[in-house]
Amino acid sequence: MKRVFNHRTTRSVQIGVGHDDHTGGISFPIYPSATYRHPGVGQSTGYDYTRSDNPTREVLEDALADLEGGTHGLVFSSGMGALTTLLLNFSSGDHLLASEDLYGGTYRLLEQVFAKFGISTSYVDTTSAAAVAAAIVPPQTKALLVETPGNPLLGIADIRALADLCKAHRLLFVVDNTFLTPVLQRPLDLGADIVVHSATKYLGGHSDLCAGVLVAKGDELGKQLSFLQNSTGAILPPQDCWLLIRSLKTLPLRMERHSASALEVAHWLQQQPQVEKVYYPGLPEHPGHDLSRQQTAGFGGMLSFRLTSPQLAERVLERLQLISFAESLGGVETLMTLPAVQTHGDIPAAERQRLGICNSLLRLSVGLEEPADLIADLHQALN
Ligand SMILES: Cc1ncc(COP(=O)(O)O)c(C=O)c1O
Repeated sequence: MKRVFNHRTTRSVQIGVGHDDHTGGISFPIYPSATYRHPGVGQSTGYDYTRSDNPTREVLEDALADLEGGTHGLVFSSGMGALTTLLLNFSSGDHLLASEDLYGGTYRLLEQVFAKFGISTSYVDTTSAAAVAAAIVPPQTKALLVETPGNPLLGIADIRALADLCKAHRLLFVVDNTFLTPVLQRPLDLGADIVVHSATKYLGGHSDLCAGVLVAKGDELGKQLSFLQNSTGAILPPQDCWLLIRSLKTLPLRMERHSASALEVAHWLQQQPQVEKVYYPGLPEHPGHDLSRQQTAGFGGMLSFRLTSPQLAERVLERLQLISFAESLGGVETLMTLPAVQTHGDIPAAERQRLGICNSLLRLSVGLEEPADLIADLHQALN
């Protein structure tokens, strides 16, 4: 019997429960088998070969599709694997639009890999629907890829307005939902066609897993992405699928706490004389605050702040005791990065400067430690 629960928190906790009819196991098992015995010629148990289908992966993919409100979920060996598979939809001569406030690895993939195949990308301020509209070059422009909140400056794009624009111009609309997860933001409900994730971040949530996700809305699109995944092979192994299922069970709780702690830290940072500016959509003075309130269920755990000098930023990173100076984000442990050098190092220096990704800008992924301990660490590092 299919079990239906109204609340997504309940559905997260219950992922895989009731699926193992053989033993009644509460934790859905890992199926490591690479291949499956056929009952007879032309017959299949539904599973033939693990790249094409795997029971553990299927439970995870169905759960992600459900959480994002899509029809097809696919999990990959990394977020870049998910993005690469997505971009294989395009052909030479196609033109794409992407947020200028974008993860540096996505920029590198577009500029140093897909550009060689004749797929060009323009980077636009996706916090302005008018700027996006002005950058469309019909009929070459085929898709819009948006990160909202942006990375690392946390700009907010109006997902509904951009979805309308994409529909009017027949563009595929893709939203990278890594920063907020479906617990706080559901782009497919607001009109997007595809959601992408680095599941290495909040979905995994414990800095011990590398994975990526695509969720599509619509049968044709879902089947096309599934075809590309099976043809190119960047699947997530069953052991990691199981770990990601386990992580998703606590996702709603974690996101609530990440958001509450980030707001507390953001308020404290605002009061420090060494801090010139705090970028966090939860602050009323953030330009995307009202929009964020309308289209999300929370502001998330990511914030950036600009210090008075690059030298101070370096000193802070060296002095941290509790917070780790490390790339990545979304884990239970608080991490701090220097985007200009780390995550956004592949973006040309002049472009970084223009966007405001300077060497005084630090990005904080606020974890689940007690906020007072995080503030104490920041205080000692700043002073
Ligand atoms: C917003 C965003 N999208 C995609 C990626 C790529 O994901 P992965 O590192 O899992 O390949 C990252 C990685 O940092 C990211 O921050």
